[in-house]
Amino acid sequence: MPATPTEDAAEAATETATAEDTAIDRGQWGSRFGFIMAAVGSAVGLGNIWRFPFTTAANGGAAFVLLYLAMLVLVGLPGMLAELAIGRKARLNAVGSYREAGEQGDKWQYVGLLGVISAMTVLSYYAVVAGWTVQYFLGSFTGAYFGDPGTYLAGVLEGPAAIAFHMLFMATVAGVIALGVSNGIERVVKVMIPSLIVIALGLAVYAFFLPGAVEGYAFFLTPDFSAYSDPGNFVGIAVDAAGQAAFTLSLGQAAIITYGSYLDPDSDLSVDGLTIAGADTGVAILGGFLVFPLLAAFGNLETAGGPETMFLAIPEGLASLGIVGQSLGVLFFLALALAAFSSAISLLEVPTSYLVDEWGVTRWKASLLLAEFIALVGLLSAMDQDFLTFVDLLAVNVLILGGLFGLSVYAGWFMPDLKDEVDRGSESLQLGSFAKPMLRYVTPVILLGLLVVSLRDFVTQLAGFF
Ligand code: PHE
Repeated sequence: MPATPTEDAAEAATETATAEDTAIDRGQWGSRFGFIMAAVGSAVGLGNIWRFPFTTAANGGAAFVLLYLAMLVLVGLPGMLAELAIGRKARLNAVGSYREAGEQGDKWQYVGLLGVISAMTVLSYYAVVAGWTVQYFLGSFTGAYFGDPGTYLAGVLEGPAAIAFHMLFMATVAGVIALGVSNGIERVVKVMIPSLIVIALGLAVYAFFLPGAVEGYAFFLTPDFSAYSDPGNFVGIAVDAAGQAAFTLSLGQAAIITYGSYLDPDSDLSVDGLTIAGADTGVAILGGFLVFPLLAAFGNLETAGGPETMFLAIPEGLASLGIVGQSLGVLFFLALALAAFSSAISLLEVPTSYLVDEWGVTRWKASLLLAEFIALVGLLSAMDQDFLTFVDLLAVNVLILGGLFGLSVYAGWFMPDLKDEVDRGSESLQLGSFAKPMLRYVTPVILLGLLVVSLRDFVTQLAGFF
């Protein structure tokens, strides 16, 4: 493939102090804080506050949460360390990183390409849901959904408004990516992520005082192990738990490889990786503490099983609170929109860096072209919500789990220096000797088993869809 940056080019770029984000320089994080905010921003997204609650509800509540936490340790943390190590070692886009970081890279680079394709697929519908959050944010200001939440929702989910806000969202994401790694991404996330965390904390405290709080917490925290009793059921829950763990940590589609490729070679992957995974899990749990009391107080926990749940039950409740509801709505949907935005930029960065590194396309051109293409594909999801739900299932339970399986086999078996790569730069805590055996023997075995089941389910769903 053309235009892989040579060492000379990289050196030349670092020599010119102001060369950041020029065509030759790939860019680099300006600070450790900036990187952590960007990676936490990628991880914390609609997955935490939108997807996690409805997937939990659909799988019987707390029994799912336990499996999800287990998957975070068995699959998520090893995957996070592997992606960071691969990206930091190769300092290239997804495809280039798989090609350079381990053995037989010319074959493994196709797993990187799968990551590029998955990231684009996810972004195509992610931006549609993000568009819903922006509509509800604006609608909270004007009180647009306060009269008749059901009718408002129908107008939001599909059709002209969904299309318009999807497009607008994609254009904004492309604008940030065009500005570059530290000038664009890093600047934006340093403001967005702290604001997001403050708002989410504030709302969780508010939710604590709601009449439904106890019922909501109980649903979220009291496992009903009868959900596990049927083995078929158990495996199904495990697939969703692993898919959710991968999705929420932004793994399996090379987003973390790409962000890792802008790291300093001596950065501390163990501490940073744990910080990212910990912050993401914290916000998911916080999301649960926020959403389940709201659903219990306002809506109906039992119906909390679909992508649209939160966009109906929560606005209905807010509508009953008048002006207080309006202000809460502004904050709640602002938090969702911020979370969506900082994740979406990491999704667009994956194919952008691929075009920049491998094909020598300039960053701004790559980001605009890709955003247009992805926005067009996303029209299908903006016009038909069943299609959106279907692509989400395909992306998460097939593409992402498949990508993560490839990642773990590659890191565990084809990177002899994996342990050293993970540990380089870490002093206090070195997780290399945890990551290596996990990625060799544990993570891929779990993922392979789950992948077989989820492929079978997917084929069944596919037949049902057509
Ligand atoms: N982690 C994000 C979320 O939870 C989604 C995402 C997946 C972002 C993959 C980037 C890459 O919403």
